[in-house]
Amino acid sequence: NTTEELQTLLLTTLEEKGSVSNTKELITPDGKEVDQQALLGALKSLSLADKEMVQYEPIEEEIWVLTDEGEEIADKGSHEAKVFDAIPVGEEGISIQDLQNLLGESAKIGQGKAFKNKWINKNGNNLIRVVDSIVDQTRIDLEIIRSTGTHSDHKVLSELKKRKLCDKQKKVSYSVTKGSQFSLTIEKQARDITFEMLQSGEWQDAKFKKYNFDALDPATCTQFPEEYLERVKEVHSVGGYGSIGYGYDWKIEEAQKMILRTHTTAVSSTMLYDLAQQKEFRPVKYFSIDRVFRNETVDATHLAEFHQVEGVIADKGLTLGDLIGVKNLRFKPAYNPYTEPSMEIFSYHPGLGKWVEVGNSGMFRPEMLEPMGFGPEVRVIAWGLSLERPTMIKYGIDNIREVSATPLECFHL
Ligand code: PHE
Repeated sequence: NTTEELQTLLLTTLEEKGSVSNTKELITPDGKEVDQQALLGALKSLSLADKEMVQYEPIEEEIWVLTDEGEEIADKGSHEAKVFDAIPVGEEGISIQDLQNLLGESAKIGQGKAFKNKWINKNGNNLIRVVDSIVDQTRIDLEIIRSTGTHSDHKVLSELKKRKLCDKQKKVSYSVTKGSQFSLTIEKQARDITFEMLQSGEWQDAKFKKYNFDALDPATCTQFPEEYLERVKEVHSVGGYGSIGYGYDWKIEEAQKMILRTHTTAVSSTMLYDLAQQKEFRPVKYFSIDRVFRNETVDATHLAEFHQVEGVIADKGLTLGDLIGVKNLRFKPAYNPYTEPSMEIFSYHPGLGKWVEVGNSGMFRPEMLEPMGFGPEVRVIAWGLSLERPTMIKYGIDNIREVSATPLECFHL
């Protein structure tokens, strides 16, 4: 469903019923359930400050979902049941080697449990059945969880979670009421100015969608540490501290413009500047977690607003080796205007089946640090990770929009 279809569905339902107590009960005209992630997009645009057509509150619910292995067992049976099924009826049974050849991994994992359940026994080197038939309770329990989202026996849930066959997940839906400017028709807001609009003169009366970055107040900043500003201006325009600079005409008007922070490295720089002002250098480790904003096309791994976790270590004599010493990550050479060397950080996402960029890192350049007031012997290693991508990897989530359903939710995971 497109955002527009969902908006229409919401507005007509509100008009008809007055309110929607839980959006998970919404049904599209073609009889389908509504994707709550997509719905959130529709809700957000209908509740913007400049057209408050609806108001909404999240409703959080915990449901149990099967892991990939849990799904496999719910479909095809548990390892122990596979072991039982593979053993022929009779005294002779099957050799452990044959069972292994037949079932692979499942043979090893399933045997112990099948013994414990008193389904099988040993006869010399062979395994034999000791009961006529079995009930594959694990599979039954998993099927219950799959279809109902929970299980009446909490012990079963915690046991299956321990075996990594199922896990708890948060599901968000919404309650919606009419807003102060409720109406059935949505006023069209232009996103971009087009050639046609310019030609026809339509641009003069068109209503434009407000973008993040346009709505900043105040628009400029006028307070800077004077000497630092001069040194930055110098290094950018003509170079210094070993750098040749950008060779451009550095303008105070540009530097004064406020923008929403695009990375938390802005915070790290402020902290480092403060550190450099202290009489005596002391080594530090700094961390930050905060929201950042980017001009991104939203997809499964990108959001225009997300969170970054940044780490900075400043000491004398640090090297690249101090930065890379972490397992299960891959590093790829990259470029940042403020670090050299720079490395993108990748982590494997089993759900998406590929290496996903989770962050970026490097050693802050002398031409960034020395204008702050640090001596040339001070080295700073730093890395910035998005909070959302590693969270996706840890919890097996394939769509970044699920992690960001409500801004604070990711901290509760
Ligand atoms: N600021 C970089 C980013 O947003 C991350 C980074 C932090 C890179 C620190 C190098 C050092 O991608």
